[in-house]
Amino acid sequence: MSYDAGRIKCLENYRNLFLPVARRTTPQTGQAHDAQRNMTKSNSKTIIVAVTGGIAAYKACEVIRQLKKEGHDVHVMMTEHAEQFVTPLTFQTLSGNVVATNMFELMQGSQIGLIKLADESDLILVCPATANIIAKAACGICDDFVTTVLLATKALIVYVPSMNVNMWDNPITQKNVSVLGNRGHHFIEPGEGELACGYTGKGRLAEPELIVSKVLEILNNLRMKIT
Ligand SMILES: Cc1cc2nc3c(=O)[nH]c(=O)nc-3n(C[C@H](O)[C@H](O)[C@H](O)COP(=O)(O)O)c2cc1C
Repeated sequence: MSYDAGRIKCLENYRNLFLPVARRTTPQTGQAHDAQRNMTKSNSKTIIVAVTGGIAAYKACEVIRQLKKEGHDVHVMMTEHAEQFVTPLTFQTLSGNVVATNMFELMQGSQIGLIKLADESDLILVCPATANIIAKAACGICDDFVTTVLLATKALIVYVPSMNVNMWDNPITQKNVSVLGNRGHHFIEPGEGELACGYTGKGRLAEPELIVSKVLEILNNLRMKIT
């Protein structure tokens, strides 16, 4: 058994320990006894969630959970700073797939797999998107795994920004957002209110339910354009 296959098997055993009996995976087939089984292959999309180093990184857990529940194949990649907020193990458990982090751990195979997936994925969701990742993507900087995939992919990219109100309002951030928007990338705007940093204003990550419904809407529009 390969290193990754072993990790996934281990993960499956772990998930089965905690999932209600009705939703456990069948050991022989690996198929899940839930909504995923009812989803036809044509409806199921491959989505990569890129988690970056913002305080709202924990909210990506709920987004991933809901996307999985909708029957999509979800993979996660993280920046090094994102690992300060949520561990890869959490995302690995929720997505059921190995999480890609360090670009120079290519020997593990998961990163190579993810680069291939980046080619084949339908959508990349950057959630939360820091001011930093938006700036790097707008300039084409690719100095880590996430930014490299963002530059290399031809998939739709959806950014869900979350940051301090002054960072969001900063004309540099606004210019970066419009550069990416003009290139055809999507943004799910941050909400207004009390921010984790203690400030009040625009910068809160959109609610997970809203993020998921926008992603589904974007994927649906894509399907209608293709068919
Ligand atoms: C506690 C803490 C919370 C932070 N929250 C945010 C945030 O919500 N949004 C943001 O843009 N940056 C935030 N930052 C700053 C980013 O972590 C920093 O800009 C980092 O370089 C982002 O790296 P990444 O984009 O590669 O993940 C935070 C930093 C700390 C220490």
